[in-house]
Amino acid sequence: MVHFPGHGHRRSEDVVIGPLDLAARVDEALAVQAVAFGLGADEVAVRRQIVLRHMTCPGARALGATTPDGRLVGFVYGMPNDRTHWWSTVVEPYLRARGHDDWLDDSFVITELHVHPRHQNRGIGRALITAITDDAAEPRSILSAIDTDSPARGLYHSLGYEDLARRVLFPSAPMPYAVMGAPLPLRRREGAR
Ligand SMILES: CC(C)(COP(=O)(O)OP(=O)(O)OC[C@H]1O[C@@H](n2cnc3c(N)ncnc32)[C@H](O)[C@@H]1OP(=O)(O)O)[C@@H](O)C(=O)NCCC(=O)NCCS
Repeated sequence: MVHFPGHGHRRSEDVVIGPLDLAARVDEALAVQAVAFGLGADEVAVRRQIVLRHMTCPGARALGATTPDGRLVGFVYGMPNDRTHWWSTVVEPYLRARGHDDWLDDSFVITELHVHPRHQNRGIGRALITAITDDAAEPRSILSAIDTDSPARGLYHSLGYEDLARRVLFPSAPMPYAVMGAPLPLRRREGAR
């Protein structure tokens, strides 16, 4: 468990990063995701089933960011990538077209990463994704993010993720996504321990 006090004057309360029983706390996690990412009630209900199924996959793990009074304000989860999973089957042709489909093997996939807006920009997202990938046995990590210059994309680039494919269309999503990959361990910020 990592005690995570945030940065200097931006600190408002201590947040702890540690293992999360995501199946047990799925509703709290989806409440964070709903406000961070913008999900309606219908989408939350769909995501709930997906998350519960994902947590039964071999090697699936989650970490949470929790306030001293036990509120969940951020979470990440992922698993060793499996080419038979829906996400892999969608991105595979895009990666293959660019000679990158080997990234689907021996890779830890980040499935979700969300931080409550009131707690963003304090390093919590960076701490969550770095900690979960530090415990991965795989030598690399992949993920997808909406293909735009978002804080998420800025964070992933700064951690060493590079674009493997762009304009990737998921059947259920209106916006195109970028698929990104990084060697593990993720890049540390200069001067960071
Ligand atoms: C992506 C997200 C999880 C990051 O969490 P966070 O706790 O705010 O992230 P951190 O404070 O650790 O890092 C923020 C980093 O984002 C980047 N960033 C922040 N604002 C940015 C902006 N406007 N443009 C580009 N990059 C930006 C920077 O790289 C920054 O790192 P630095 O300030 O340490 O150099 C959070 O913004 C979030 O939940 N967003 C909405 C949901 C989402 O998009 N999730 C990802 C789905 S793929």
